[in-house]
Amino acid sequence: MYLSPLATILALALFAAGQDVSIAAVDKAFDAADLPTDLDIVFKPTALLEVSLPQTTGPPITLHAGIQVPRNDTAGPPTFHVVGNVGGGPFVVAAVDPDAPTPQDPTSAQIRHFLGGNFFNHGGLLVNSTPAISEFRQPTPPAGSDAHRYTFLLFKQSPEFATQTLVNANTSVSLFNISQFATAVDLGNPIAGTFMLVAPA
Ligand SMILES: *[C@@H]1O[C@H](CO)[C@@H](O)[C@H](O)[C@H]1NC(C)=O
Ligand SMILES: *[C@@H]1O[C@H](CO)[C@@H](O)[C@H](O)[C@H]1NC(C)=O
Ligand SMILES: *[C@@H]1O[C@H](CO)[C@@H](O)[C@H](O)[C@H]1NC(C)=O
Repeated sequence: MYLSPLATILALALFAAGQDVSIAAVDKAFDAADLPTDLDIVFKPTALLEVSLPQTTGPPITLHAGIQVPRNDTAGPPTFHVVGNVGGGPFVVAAVDPDAPTPQDPTSAQIRHFLGGNFFNHGGLLVNSTPAISEFRQPTPPAGSDAHRYTFLLFKQSPEFATQTLVNANTSVSLFNISQFATAVDLGNPIAGTFMLVAPA
């Protein structure tokens, strides 16, 4: 397909408009959404995590912190990029929903929507060399709920992560606790993150 130079510039501009471009802005959006408090994490990002959701037609949706995404566009699985001087890896990516079944009464939170390790940095693209522990689950906020905050976090992988036995593919995704898990396997604080709001379809 031939793209005129103007179309290419417009496409690039649209792409750039979608994603997070400022660490400070991401930090602020997390604070404004009360995520550090509700996830019980220290969020002092040093890089940007780009999360892109493929679409059946058209370009992927790349998140910026706090974007509202139609539930129908969140089937995934997402691809991950890191922007920043974070080294080659390995990294752990986690995605959690602290608002299940509703933000007002999150009795089954957190829901683990993704947990994978052995991500390596290929010029920014994060590629995992082993299957994820929990593959991506599409958001399914129940009818009548307000939008949930689906939150993606990037950690530097610890040696303890590789030998952890707390979570496997058969472990319930409900009542997960990313703060507790990160402490238990010595992941430290997340180095990057972003989040999207998804309401019932
Ligand atoms: C969105 O919804 C329509 C109608 O239900 C469906 O045909 C389509 O496959 C959905 N798209 C995605 C990305 O799930
Ligand atoms: C999960 O359960 C299935 C069926 O019981 C089993 O075959 C599989 O080995 C289990 N996987 C893990 C990681 O424990
Ligand atoms: C998660 O674990 C932390 C301790 O690491 C605790 O303070 C917090 O209350 C827990 N959160 C939930 C939702 O249980």
